[in-house]
Amino acid sequence: MTEPREPYQDETPAEIAELPREDAAVRDGIGEDDNPIPTWFNVSFCATIVFAAFYAAYYLLSDWSQAAQYQTQVARADALASQARASLPETNPYRADAAAIGEGQQVFATVCAVCHKADGSGLIGPSLVDPYWKYGHDDPTLFESVSAGRPGGMPAWQTQLGADKIWKALAYLETLPTSSEPGLGAPEGTASGS
Ligand code: HEC
Repeated sequence: MTEPREPYQDETPAEIAELPREDAAVRDGIGEDDNPIPTWFNVSFCATIVFAAFYAAYYLLSDWSQAAQYQTQVARADALASQARASLPETNPYRADAAAIGEGQQVFATVCAVCHKADGSGLIGPSLVDPYWKYGHDDPTLFESVSAGRPGGMPAWQTQLGADKIWKALAYLETLPTSSEPGLGAPEGTASGS
């Protein structure tokens, strides 16, 4: 049931908006026309190609890509972290400060005692008053244990307490009576005096 379409008779080609394709048959009254692609379309098409070239060059060569942004942010975070590490006090600034030790007691009682017991002898967390330390007990290491946490279940307290309260809690910890006996969690650590 397909018959060639009648060509236009009276119009000049310039008047004919849609020229029927010679080789296309009409189906259900619908034929195929052979229209030139509009200029605006060709121009935008070429523009996207030109744009893509500049875009690709800019994306790859500048710092604008996600990968480069990530690198920049990681570098900035690394710089901040090492700066923060460098500015940590090497020793506990509150060691002999009675008022600070009092505040430290508050912190220890409300935060640490849940896991380390009020006398520091250990509950969920290991004893902090025996001679055994898993990570060490010089000031920077103790601070690191408390501020950044430890993988065996010790939470990080830096955000919640801040450096000041951590040092105070540690200053208080030093005033607790120590025990020479291995306490809770002792086998994991190495005796290094308390
Ligand atoms: C949720 C329970 C919990 C709380 C709260 C907690 N700790 Fe711990 N802590 C642990 C556990 C568990 C470990 C052992 C981590 C490991 O072995 O990796 C630990 C380890 C430590 C260590 C390292 C001990 C070592 O042998 O090197 C120190 C120091 C410490 N805690 C101090 C504190 C202080 C100070 C606070 C209060 C600010 C506190 N902890 C609060 C559970 C807790």
